[in-house]
Amino acid sequence: MYVEQLVLTDLRCFEALKLVPSRSVNVLLGDNGSGKTSILEALYVLSHGRSFRAGGGAAALIRRGQTACTVHAVLGGAQQRRLGLTRTAHTWRARIDGQPAVRLSALLGLCPVICVEPGSQALIAGPAELRRRFLDWGVFHVEPGFVDVWQRHRRALQQRNALLRTAVDDRQMRIWEQHLAQSGKELDALRRAYLERWREPLTRYLSRWLPELGAPQYQYQRGWAAASELDTALRSTRDRDRVMGFTRAGPQRADWALTFARAPERHQLSRGQTKLVALACMLAQFEVYRSMRGDVPVLLLDDLASELDRAHGERVLDQVLGCGAQVWISGTTFPWQRQFSGRVFHVEHGAARCADGPVLAQEAGC
Ligand SMILES: Nc1ncnc2c1ncn2[C@@H]1O[C@H](COP(=O)(O)OP(=O)(O)O)[C@@H](O)[C@H]1O
Ligand SMILES: [Mg+2]
Repeated sequence: MYVEQLVLTDLRCFEALKLVPSRSVNVLLGDNGSGKTSILEALYVLSHGRSFRAGGGAAALIRRGQTACTVHAVLGGAQQRRLGLTRTAHTWRARIDGQPAVRLSALLGLCPVICVEPGSQALIAGPAELRRRFLDWGVFHVEPGFVDVWQRHRRALQQRNALLRTAVDDRQMRIWEQHLAQSGKELDALRRAYLERWREPLTRYLSRWLPELGAPQYQYQRGWAAASELDTALRSTRDRDRVMGFTRAGPQRADWALTFARAPERHQLSRGQTKLVALACMLAQFEVYRSMRGDVPVLLLDDLASELDRAHGERVLDQVLGCGAQVWISGTTFPWQRQFSGRVFHVEHGAARCADGPVLAQEAGC
């Protein structure tokens, strides 16, 4: 999959922007605050339904003084698709080939985008929720049954949490606990199968880029005690859960961790090493997608040069330039000696000008 055309309306500093990117490599260059990250963010929103930047929620994406922002994209690949996503602070409206989409997941499923940005280091050192989201994004794209299982689990969890707070109805509680245990088991099995596939390419990247850290060690916690079945765990924690007001055992608490023989604690990695580990996780996810789907996601590398020395940066670049994906790389400069066929866009004050062609955007909005 690749993006043939991208149109933003009222997104961050862009009042209106139209980009016709290269099928292969697109480099966005510009000063701080010129809008490079916002362009990548727009692509990410079509893939994830929200931004990768923390804070402000959907409202932060909307240009100051406006009530909604819209991203349109024409996607190329096996089949050309036209996607449109409008976000207000609290709602979304999605269109696929001009028709309204009932489920946002239908649109997100058509637009796989993998993004590495300065905040991606939180995948290794940040909260468990980020690692669950990362894992579930991967599973969503390669397991057709995932959305159904995930929704059944969410519904059962909401029902049990509501019963914990309001009623002492053990019969109802047992019914929802059975649903929760069944969907929880299925979710856990899908996640495990995904992690198995992901480990092989990940180990390969890590040994290539970070041999000094020694062998990687993977841990996965499914979200409830290893010794018990989920329905047993739910029954035994019910009284305590009533006091807490929410369900503690289950895949909603799952987590995974990656440590190294010579860096057994996360805090023993430097910022640059953490960035390389996050990059390896993302590119391994890219490989799983490619091998399972026979197609490639779009790759976004926001501010690639930050935290990376020249040698590591060039190794990463060689990998991504040769992977067959449409790649978007942003930075204040392009500090590497690499030849590539593609386009360079100079981004400034809410506009982007293609260096080798006509001006592709107008109307500064900052
Ligand atoms: N909701 C918004 N409305 C208007 N401008 C915004 C909004 N959010 C951010 N900006 C501005 O958009 C500009 C682009 O930011 P960003 O994409 O992060 O730039 P870069 O990645 O090039 O450093 C910044 O000047 C920022 O102040
Ligand atoms: Mg930026």
